[in-house]
Parts: sequence; structure tokens; C-alpha cells
Amino acid sequence: QQHRRLISRQRFINDFSQCLYEFVIQLLPTAEEMAVKEDVRKLLERLIRTIEPDSRLLSFGSSANGFSLKNSDMDLCCLIDSGERLNASDLVTMVGDLLERETKFHVKPLPHARIPIVKLTLDPSPALPFGIACDIGFENRLALENTRLLMCYASIDPARVRTMVLFLKVWSKRRKINSPYKGTLSSYGYVLLVIYFLVHVKNPPVLPNLQQMPPLRPISEEETHLNGYNIWFFDDIELLRQRWKSSNTETVAELLIDFFRFYSRDFAYNTGVASIRAGLLKKETKGWFTDDHGTGRERNRLCIEDPFETDFNVARCVTKDGLYTIRGEFMRASRILQARPDRAILALAQLCE
Ligand code: GTP
Ligand code: MG
Repeated sequence: QQHRRLISRQRFINDFSQCLYEFVIQLLPTAEEMAVKEDVRKLLERLIRTIEPDSRLLSFGSSANGFSLKNSDMDLCCLIDSGERLNASDLVTMVGDLLERETKFHVKPLPHARIPIVKLTLDPSPALPFGIACDIGFENRLALENTRLLMCYASIDPARVRTMVLFLKVWSKRRKINSPYKGTLSSYGYVLLVIYFLVHVKNPPVLPNLQQMPPLRPISEEETHLNGYNIWFFDDIELLRQRWKSSNTETVAELLIDFFRFYSRDFAYNTGVASIRAGLLKKETKGWFTDDHGTGRERNRLCIEDPFETDFNVARCVTKDGLYTIRGEFMRASRILQARPDRAILALAQLCE
């Protein structure tokens, strides 16, 4: 009896892995969509250069880190290489005016946000049935670096890492727990949770800690620091692919099931900080307290340290209710996957209902 159960569980795990791969593949953007987005980037770059001739417009976020889904928005960052620069707020206003005049985008400049950006949207058309949404920020070099870090992690073990991340992105959107404005977690936050789990929770680890590996040659403080933050990490992917061979052979289904179990039950939400740089840290040592000082705004319920901006909690927007909902969803997913479902495809559909 027990033997038979084990075999049927094993069969479920294999089927579920296969389903995950197939599910994720059809969610990837088409080559055509990527080409259109690249054209848009070039067009915007050309226009912005009429104001700042020495500027470059670079992609970051999902369109540059290997975690993009069909119709995901574009995150663009404008870098200005010459000396004399306008500040980000003024640039946002000027670029906003320019794009309003010169393009068909709906333009919304947000010059006074924590990170000033211009928001652009393009209405759906036959060629672009979902339109385009795009944010342009300025001089946000840390975002370019954290994008590169995530891209490196994805390319060490694309089959498992990319599949887990893409699945969780879709799942969190379908389950409506991917809205920082409504007290839940950003996509970036979910990606960090996955990497933290694969580097620090799984034993043996699936991924190495790229920020703690010894550099190949001595490097100066100047090369490693940006705005006072240490942004160094081991980024020689070719070499890593040759040298890093994880002894963890779990399938993507097993990893995902364990991911849900860990974040529904085991993670120390009340006291812990998930840091992909340093492992599990304490809220207390970072001075990240839940106390809202009477402002009524919840802070630090869930703590995820940014890989470079270590004084920044990526999950700062997650409220008490938001965290309760997110953990409830982790539990629901765990329950569905433990309930000995006999058809993997049905379990997957139920997960993303
Ligand atoms: P989708 O837009 O949902 O496809 O996901 P995404 O991968 O683009 O993630 P998201 O839009 O959440 O974030 C895009 C990029 O912005 C990330 O890769 C980071 O570089 C940066 N970013 C987002 N949120 C934060 C944050 O809270 N802190 C910092 N430092 N960077 C952030
Ligand atoms: Mg994005």
C-alpha cells in the first residue's frame, strides 16, 4: 500500500514538473513582442537625446532579467553620461512634455515620487492587442545592477530558476497578491524570495551566493561601490557554469512544493529578514521594527533586504492584512499540492484559479 502511494506521488511530481515547464513556455513573450518593445526603446531614446544628447536608455526589470511574461510592462532607465546634469525631477517634467508632444503615448510624469518616473501607456491596437505600459526613470543605476544580479542567478540554472520564478509571477498575479499599492508584494519581492530559498534554505543549495564568492582578482573599493553601496557580485557566468554544479537534484515540482511549505510555515516572519546577501538576519539587528509610530501605516511586517541597498526593505509596503493574505495563499497552494491530486494539470489549474 505504502509502496504504491510512493510510486503515485513520484508520478505526480514528474507530471507536475512537466506541466510547469509547458505552462511557463506558453507565457513567454513572442519574438515579435520583444522586437516591438526594442523598437519602442530606440524611438524613446532618440527623442530623449534631443534634450540630452549624451543619454542612453537601458532596459531593466523583467524585460532585461529573463523573467518577463507576455505583455509585461517595460522598465527603462535613462543614464546621462555628460557632466552637467539636470536633476531627476526636472528631467521627468521635460521628458514628459516632450513625449506628450511627439508621441501617441498617454504620458504621466511623476516628478515627486521616491524615484521620479515618467509613466507611458499605449492603447491596444491590432498589432499590439494589449498595448504597452512603460516606466522611464533616471540615473537609477542600482536597479540596473540588481537586474544584472537576477539575470545571473537565472542563467546559472535556467530550467529550475526561471520556471519557478515565472510560475510564481503568474500565480501571484492570478491570486491578486502582487500589488504593492494594495499592501501585497512586488514581483521583485517574489523573485528575491525564490532566490533566498534556493541559496539559503535548500540544503544542498540550488544556487551559490554570488555576492559572497571570492573575486577572481583583487578589486578596488571604487569598482565595487555605487552611491555608498557594495554592488560587487561574481558575474562571470561562463566560468560559473563550468565550476558550479549543485548537488541538489530536486525537480522543479519538488522545489516549488517545498517553497510553498517553507513560506507558509517555516519562515520567521515575526523576527526574520530574508537577505540573499547574508542569509537569515534579525529585524532587531537591522532596526526594522513593525511599530508604525501612530501613523497607521504598517511597516516591516515582512522583511526582504535589497541585495545592494541593504538599508532598504523591498517588502516595506506589505501590510498586516497583506501578509495574512499572502501567507494564506502559500498555505492554500501547499494544501492543493499535498492533497494527493491525481492529475497534475488539474492541480496547476486549481492553483492559478
Ligand atoms: P513585472 O513588471 O511584474 O513583469 O516584474 P518585474 O520583474 O519587472 O519586477 P518589478 O516591476 O517589481 O521591478 C522591476 C525592477 O525594478 C526590478 O528588477 C528592480 O530592479 C527594480 N525594483 C522594483 N522594486 C524595487 C524596490 O523596491 N527597490 C529597488 N531597489 N528596486 C526595485
Ligand atoms: Mg516590471
